[in-house]
Amino acid sequence: MALRNIVKIGDPALRKNARKVTNFDDKLHLLLDDMKETMEEANGVGLAAPQVGINRSIVTIDVGEGLVELINPEILETSGEQINLEGCLSVEDTKEYVRRPEHVKVRAQNRTGEWVEYDAYDYFAIAVCHETDHLNGVLFVDKIADLTEEELEELRKRDEEADDEDFDTQEDD
Ligand code: CO
Repeated sequence: MALRNIVKIGDPALRKNARKVTNFDDKLHLLLDDMKETMEEANGVGLAAPQVGINRSIVTIDVGEGLVELINPEILETSGEQINLEGCLSVEDTKEYVRRPEHVKVRAQNRTGEWVEYDAYDYFAIAVCHETDHLNGVLFVDKIADLTEEELEELRKRDEEADDEDFDTQEDD
């Protein structure tokens, strides 16, 4: 295994539509292992292949409930809403509030090509949305929640108590 270089905002690799994976071979498994290692080394909770310069539909996520590998993911259903601070390994020193579904049902292939489904809630749901956005060339800074001062104040108060639970860089993506 090896650490991969994480590309930063401004790099065109982050703005492409990722291509589908068709070969579930050793090369894919090596990439998945490298992505896991790279994500962990960077203290991220999620990583998408375009972030390591690979234009393929591949995501790794670990929000503390074990590693999840999503290949060719498709979000089938969403429900509810949550607003949380997000960051990104490709966007340093930035955290912004983003509106996401509370729950997403996602269908994807695993590393051997079998189709699997996950019902993701809370942080897992955020990670699935954030990382699948990367596969469509979308970054969290493109969808910062439009909030009133009052709403922001309320969220900041709520999050002061859970200051170390930021998404994507402290623990996450
Ligand atoms: Co990200």
